[in-house]
Amino acid sequence: MDKKELIRLALEAREMAYVPYSNYMVGAALLTKAGKVYKGCNIENASYTPTNCAERTAFFKAVSEGEREFAAIAIVGGYAGAPTDYAYPCGVCRQVMMEFCDPKEFCVITAVSEEEYLDKKLEEMLPHGFGPSSL
Ligand code: THU
Repeated sequence: MDKKELIRLALEAREMAYVPYSNYMVGAALLTKAGKVYKGCNIENASYTPTNCAERTAFFKAVSEGEREFAAIAIVGGYAGAPTDYAYPCGVCRQVMMEFCDPKEFCVITAVSEEEYLDKKLEEMLPHGFGPSSL
């Protein structure tokens, strides 16, 4: 699967964002090493703290289906309409990536559109991360 297709799926996932409090819509598309994609959106809550980010929605869907091997994630975010800027994953989501992904291998694609994106390794997004190999 190419990056453009993964970004397209993240944009599709973003349409499902449940964001009555922030109106900030995020979509993610998580690619397994076997080539399967799990989509996720952010899901907010009237009590605020139970809010789940799009990236973690995608990861938790995948892991709960037995997936453990991941290649890349595409992330798009912004207020209603087409994204205008990069939406970087929050620290909690980076930590969840660290749990399941090799920081030297896993690609984090932040995108404005299918044409405009940044592609970084998890290691660059979370330097000196604490993960399973730390224990
Ligand atoms: N959000 C995500 O979905 N992913 C991130 O990595 C950063 C923030 C969501 C959470 C909340 O619904 C909204 O964006 C504003 O913080």
